[in-house]
Amino acid sequence: MANGTYNAVAKVLHWLVVVLLIVQFAVAWTMPDVHRDTKPVDLIAWHLSVGMTILLVMAVRLAWRARSTVPPPPADLSAPLRAVSRITHFLLYGLLFVLPILGWINANARGWTVRLFGMIPMPSLVSSGSGWGHDMGDVHQIVAWILLATAGLHVAGALYHQFILKDATLARMLPGRG
Ligand code: HEM
Ligand code: HEM
Repeated sequence: MANGTYNAVAKVLHWLVVVLLIVQFAVAWTMPDVHRDTKPVDLIAWHLSVGMTILLVMAVRLAWRARSTVPPPPADLSAPLRAVSRITHFLLYGLLFVLPILGWINANARGWTVRLFGMIPMPSLVSSGSGWGHDMGDVHQIVAWILLATAGLHVAGALYHQFILKDATLARMLPGRG
């Protein structure tokens, strides 16, 4: 496979995370502001559930990536662009773990039990009332913006490949061709 594509599972997981993130940001920006006595119900409960699902899917995705062959970048891609794309992908993976875990920590500090799919209770990462756990709510929001900016750079990169460089990079993550 000279200029291979990602395998089918990697593609499905990539686009699943994209869809879940769109839902997650829509929920986050619609849900009521979270205050001291807010209860994790309705849209906030959805935010916790979808966020934990993203964390779970990312864990599966990382494990899958570790045991699959990742296609090498196009041979004629310059070293700086190669580095930028590698760093961007690394950041996206990192942020997609750090962000939900910060939310999880903040939820526990608020005394909320975080559940997977709204059912399976997850262990508490910090005790209820934890001061630094509360602070992580602000950090969670900032990191969400950093994720958005990084994803924006990533999408710009995909479009740059497709329309300026006119190489086959975008096709590596689209259905078809292996
Ligand atoms: C990738 C997944 C996630 C994304 C993109 C995300 C995004 C966001 C955003 C944008 C906000 C700010 C909402 C606003 O402007 O009012 C927010 C708030 C919040 N999120 Fe998440 N979140 C994610 C995962 C989680 C998880 C897994 C949890 C808990 C289990 C969680 C708990 C919270 C809480 C408690 C707040 C309110 C924080 C505060 O106001 O102090 N989030 N999230
Ligand atoms: C319309 C939106 C998007 C497009 C067109 C797109 C396209 C692509 C393409 C073409 C690749 C393969 C790059 C290569 O072959 O070197 C890729 C990889 C990747 N994308 Fe996206 N993407 C989009 C949105 C996102 C979003 C929102 C995220 C996460 C926030 C994301 C995370 C990743 C990651 C982590 C990789 C690296 C995969 C790996 O090497 O395991 N993508 N994307």
